[in-house]
Amino acid sequence: MSFPEQRPRRLRRSPAMRRMVAETRLHPADLILPVFVREGLTAPAPISSMPGVVQHTEASLLTAAEEARDLGLAGIMLFGIPATRDAQGSAGLDPDGILNRSIRAVKDRVGDDLVVMSDLCLDEFTDHGHCGLVDETGEVDNDATLEVYAEMGVAQAAAGADVVAPSGMMDGQVAVIRQALDEAGHQHVPILAYAAKYASGFYGPFREAVDSQLTGDRKQYQMDAPNRTEALREVELDLAEGADMVMVKPASAYLDILSDTAAISDVPVSAYQVSGEYAMIEAAAANGWINRRTVITESLIAIRRAGATNVLTYYAAEVAGWLREELAGPRSTSAPAA
Ligand code: PBG
Repeated sequence: MSFPEQRPRRLRRSPAMRRMVAETRLHPADLILPVFVREGLTAPAPISSMPGVVQHTEASLLTAAEEARDLGLAGIMLFGIPATRDAQGSAGLDPDGILNRSIRAVKDRVGDDLVVMSDLCLDEFTDHGHCGLVDETGEVDNDATLEVYAEMGVAQAAAGADVVAPSGMMDGQVAVIRQALDEAGHQHVPILAYAAKYASGFYGPFREAVDSQLTGDRKQYQMDAPNRTEALREVELDLAEGADMVMVKPASAYLDILSDTAAISDVPVSAYQVSGEYAMIEAAAANGWINRRTVITESLIAIRRAGATNVLTYYAAEVAGWLREELAGPRSTSAPAA
């Protein structure tokens, strides 16, 4: 009988020991909360496929933003749902439309203590639900859409957005938005580019969250799941066009892409734990099949471990609350379940 010379188990014996050697940690400042605000709502409306997430009223949005600030989150990402939609997505450009007006209201409320980001895309505002303008043949017209994105970015920056986040996957979108922002005097507003965004079934519940009008899919502009090398091309293009941060989305099923991106990116990398990732955890936890808190924590640690500087997650506020409790409370009782 010979005994092992190496015993990695030594460093795993107690919560305190494991904490000492942890290579990855979560912090509230790593987390960005996506929020939905819907025009004309009188009370927050639950989203059935995302239990615990709501469409906010303009008033409840401000409370959520204050809570995010008080919890020390990195930021919030605003999505607006207009009362009326058209083929051009005009409500997204209107300085007084739901999204721009909400950016202004949130910014007035939280000041510089929270980074306010806005989704820069047409899909919430178009009656066909596509991320861009649709031409007579039914295709999403890349270059016509770019002009609209440029205008939209300027409107969001004028409303006070700290960061604009183009998510439409049009070729060249970062460059035109950068140029338009600069020309309008918004040189200091960074662009968080959804660089490697895949056409994904994991966005399913988001369609309910924004009452999407989409029939069909976005495969002509969002990336195709089988492709890995192509993601690096998308990231490199966005970096060359001036992206200040790049995003990989979805997160959990695309950790290889995230890891590749982190290896080549010289700017911060975000990852988006999307609506379907949230819904799957909630559904399994509701059935008692998994330990909810353990799996949420593990999923976010895994995304950070793969290389994300920060994570967009519908769990941001709840997890920040846990992290605060853990720092304040007796550690032996707050260690996550095995
Ligand atoms: C596009 C956008 C989408 C999501 C974020 N921005 C939908 C899509 O591309 O189909 C999905 C986010 C989620 O599923 O949580 N504006």
